[in-house]
Amino acid sequence: CKVVKPKNEEVLSYLPGSKERISLKAKLKEMQKTSMELPLIIDGKEVHTGKMGTCIIPHHKEHVLATYHMAGEKEVERAIQAALKAKKEWENTPWEHRISVFLKAAELISQPWRDTLNAATMLGQSKTVYEADADSACEIQDFFRYNSYFVSQILQEQPECIPGIFNRIEYRPLEGFVFAVTPFNFTAIGGNLPSTPAMVGNTVVWKPASSAIYSNYFLMKVLQEAGLPDGVINFIPGPGNVVGPMVMSHKMLAGIHFTGSTETFNHMWRTVAQNLGNYIGYPRIVGETGGKDFVFAHHSADIDALVTALVFGGFSFQGQKCSATSRVYIPHSIWPSVKNKLLDQVSTIKLGDVEDFTNFMGAVIDQNAFNSIKSYIDYARTSDEAEIIFGGKCDDRVGFFIEPTVIVTTNPRFKTMEEEIFGPVVTIYVYKDQELEEALDLCEQTSKYALTGAIFSQDRKAIIDMEKRLSNAAGNLYINDRTTGAFVGLQPFGGARASGTNEKVGSKQNVSRWMSPRTIKETF
Ligand code: SER
Repeated sequence: CKVVKPKNEEVLSYLPGSKERISLKAKLKEMQKTSMELPLIIDGKEVHTGKMGTCIIPHHKEHVLATYHMAGEKEVERAIQAALKAKKEWENTPWEHRISVFLKAAELISQPWRDTLNAATMLGQSKTVYEADADSACEIQDFFRYNSYFVSQILQEQPECIPGIFNRIEYRPLEGFVFAVTPFNFTAIGGNLPSTPAMVGNTVVWKPASSAIYSNYFLMKVLQEAGLPDGVINFIPGPGNVVGPMVMSHKMLAGIHFTGSTETFNHMWRTVAQNLGNYIGYPRIVGETGGKDFVFAHHSADIDALVTALVFGGFSFQGQKCSATSRVYIPHSIWPSVKNKLLDQVSTIKLGDVEDFTNFMGAVIDQNAFNSIKSYIDYARTSDEAEIIFGGKCDDRVGFFIEPTVIVTTNPRFKTMEEEIFGPVVTIYVYKDQELEEALDLCEQTSKYALTGAIFSQDRKAIIDMEKRLSNAAGNLYINDRTTGAFVGLQPFGGARASGTNEKVGSKQNVSRWMSPRTIKETF
């Protein structure tokens, strides 16, 4: 069959009195009444190790939502063996049947699982309702549907046959198993990274981030309900220093699909390098890591659009997106109006418990994140090169709350202009209008990252110039729009430099990375 190009799912309204609001509120209450005990899922079976971790609510840090069993060495080995055992049958399953599991999962997420996934993401990761619905309901469906569409497109790509010679390509999966390591900040990425390799016939060992185990567990249940055969994806939460070395030194490791920190990704590359020669092939390493995402404004920028982009790009989901705006370049001539409007808008931001649907921000994910973000704010507070013009308060008595914080610096290479903070902190450098060229150089050259960026201008020539000048600074460049919120299939997502291997998630290119084609020539 030919899969039809899908349409992106739309976020529901959740307006007061709406059906979706009433049922999600009820689900939020229900899920807090009992504390679940989450098992590992290996070879389709629940596995209990007795070595427990806890899932807490970041905005009510004393509330334990669930406990989870952690994998030890024995379970890691079991998961690898389960993946290897399931491989033959799964790779020989006709591709239409494989993708039908994920298309069915998309339907189940739409209904009846939407409330559970949204509530789990809101409670476990402190996402507001709209951020959660865009992620754990819509984006994940988009991943499943678009990737199915890309699979069907790739399979149709065949070489020509000439008289006497028949050529074809067999799109096999990789030989071995794939290791998927997923982050806390998008439930959808938790669904996508193991599923994309699986769709094309690979089997997978999946280690979710410890702070997203709650929502990711439900995703695993959805996949099982959709008919995912046992052993195709094995869900093994556990400590990175136990799971990682064992999986990555295994002879049959065929690939790594990763989203997370640059530091962890660097460590993975080194581990793979040390094990080269032990593997049966070269593991495919596909990763999306950190960012230090910029907004660069020209003096012709539409100031209202610019300010809105700074607020949404910098502070939605507490700035915990690899795509979040964190360094900003504004020309001196428009700075007074930008500053006034920005302060006006930021001061309307409501921060608190995400069960109150009017809050725009929740808490940051955990104590470590809180401490790290706070240390950057404290650094700016005591520096004579920076001024905090808004926010800066951090309060972890009830939950890990950090105010949206705006720093202005006189040093374009100030620490908070260069290092990834992964929190609600935006640093602004005001450049002299006549030094536009130098400011563009700074923007292009000073970051080791290159994930997302945005330019703001209403002057077509300036847009063309800036787009060219910033050609290596971002894998996703936005013109007059925020740096976050790429849509699957429409803005394939990923960056280069220290931001990853730039094999865009939600693209045909990413899907093809999990294939090892065989070219067959037959002469007759
Ligand atoms: N895809 C997300 C965004 O565009 C980040 O992972 O914001």
